Amino acid sequence: MSTSTIRSGNVHFEFEGQTVLARPGQSIAAALWAAQHTTFRTTGGDAAPRGYFCGMGICFDCLVTVDGRPNCRACLVPAADGMVVMRQHGNEGDPASAGGGS
Ligand code: FES
Repeated sequence: MSTSTIRSGNVHFEFEGQTVLARPGQSIAAALWAAQHTTFRTTGGDAAPRGYFCGMGICFDCLVTVDGRPNCRACLVPAADGMVVMRQHGNEGDPASAGGGS
């Protein structure tokens, strides 16, 4: 992303070491998708890529680690300035207790 695309009023967060731009209120998943990042996590068994699928907190395919907290559903968590988001590999704990939403 060039700095010319970074505008005031937008949110900037880090994904795998790259700066991602989001609109205020936009979910992490929507911002990643718009930035053409389509693999948010990999499965535990065969490391198959997973990403944005249902977009409403049901499938758990969008799990990421946010500021060191695993199992956050990227489709439910609003992007925030300075947030550090990492791709998740396999299940890190109980996905039923996944973060997101509030
Ligand atoms: S995309 Fe299905 S839970 Fe997030």
